[in-house]
Amino acid sequence: MKNFKNIDHIGIAVPDLDAAVKTYTTLLGKAPEHFEEVAEQKAKTAFFAVDDTNLELLQSTSPDGPIGKYIEKNGGRGGIHHICVQVENIEAVLEDYKKQGIQLIDEKPRKGAHGKMIAFVHPKSTGGVLLELSQEISH
Ligand code: CO
Repeated sequence: MKNFKNIDHIGIAVPDLDAAVKTYTTLLGKAPEHFEEVAEQKAKTAFFAVDDTNLELLQSTSPDGPIGKYIEKNGGRGGIHHICVQVENIEAVLEDYKKQGIQLIDEKPRKGAHGKMIAFVHPKSTGGVLLELSQEISH
């Protein structure tokens, strides 16, 4: 089974989304294509397409959310928070990972930005990188 299709996005935690959007608008020479608040992750996001992948800027909407905790641990600064890969069948990948003893943060997929199904794999099983799996849902 080939698990990964492509890198869907790189998630960058930021303390201030408006300031970060300005910074990345300058860096990329264009505005973000998509803004979304993701209640399940207690974060508001902005997406910039870069070729066939994206940069996802994330600001926490609550200090106890995953992005809030990351920024606190990181001395109030932002940084690369996760890498997201797109998969064909997220349930099958999660089942396969469970069988192989890979540590999951989400045993079952949940709803992420863009209405996709997502699940996080624990950094303990990935060499220290928070890995997000994502599957596009056909409407
Ligand atoms: Co993400």
